[in-house]
Amino acid sequence: MENIVEIEGLSKDYEVGFWRKRKVRALDGLNLNVKPGGIFGFLGGNGAGKTTTIKILMGLLYPTEGTAKILGSPIDVVNMRSRIGYCPENPYFYDYLTPLELLDYFGRLFGLDAATRGSRSADLLNAVGLEEAAWKRQLRKFSKGMQQRVGLAQALINEPDIVFLDEPMSGLDPVGRREIRELIAGLKTKGTSVFMSTHILSDVEALCDEVAILRKGKLFATGDLQELLSRDTGRGGFEVIASGLSPAAVAQIEALSKGSVVTAKPNGIAIEVANEESIEGVLRTIRDNYGKLISVLPVKQSLEDLFIEKPAAD
Ligand SMILES: Nc1ncnc2c1ncn2[C@@H]1O[C@H](COP(=O)(O)OP(=O)(O)OP(=O)(O)O)[C@@H](O)[C@H]1O
Ligand SMILES: [Mg+2]
Repeated sequence: MENIVEIEGLSKDYEVGFWRKRKVRALDGLNLNVKPGGIFGFLGGNGAGKTTTIKILMGLLYPTEGTAKILGSPIDVVNMRSRIGYCPENPYFYDYLTPLELLDYFGRLFGLDAATRGSRSADLLNAVGLEEAAWKRQLRKFSKGMQQRVGLAQALINEPDIVFLDEPMSGLDPVGRREIRELIAGLKTKGTSVFMSTHILSDVEALCDEVAILRKGKLFATGDLQELLSRDTGRGGFEVIASGLSPAAVAQIEALSKGSVVTAKPNGIAIEVANEESIEGVLRTIRDNYGKLISVLPVKQSLEDLFIEKPAAD
């Protein structure tokens, strides 16, 4: 199979207003392909359309236009759903069930036998870091982070081929985030594909192979994360950090080449050097002026730059 998720020309208009109805376009002609076996990051700011897309994929909302396939089947084909998992943005469960009962219930929906349900539930609750004392406590007594963990366990009860996670880290404390990060990374090693929406960029950098960035319902960028980050930004080059230089020495460095931009940093000055050939001259000038060289690093676009980069026509 080429792609496990294929989205073509997907649009969604929400109708808002009571007396005078008008339409709000939440998703606008989205095209997207996701390859199997990786962790796909679906990024975008608040209101970009991430949840709308995921809900359409899960069959919870109808698209206004367009089509989508998961695991090669159109999204309205029901038996494909036994091979996917889904954890919503704000998992909401039957308050009076315990995590064990909830997982058992979902296990039954997928037709698992009692023994499998029992062993999988225990394995999953351990994997999401829910302590055993909480397994038989009613969900209504759970904190948001604990609910999130149960939601993740629920999404994995059928050992899906692909799991859709809408903001899986929301509501988690730093320790919880790290645990869930490890869990998600572990899914990939077991061969489960992951499609996760998030706006926590550090999680994306730590986990994702490929990403798509949505902006106002439109696809803004997509591709291999490392490739996107090393894409030529017009900045490029190297950053040299040095300290202990006199203003005269700094002026000398600035005069060296037009590409050298000097900015103050807490630990000295940063010199942006346009290319590798210019570095030698800058280093020599620092040395001749008895400055201290702190570091030389290639300038890479950060995900944050990419995330907030303005498109030409916006
Ligand atoms: N039920 C609804 N009725 C009307 N408009 C909606 C509805 N749900 C979402 N929208 C609008 O659709 C747009 C996309 O919302 P969506 O929830 O998909 O964004 P998101 O990317 O998931 O954002 P967040 O990061 O805040 O979760 C927003 O402008 C939102 O206001
Ligand atoms: Mg959302």
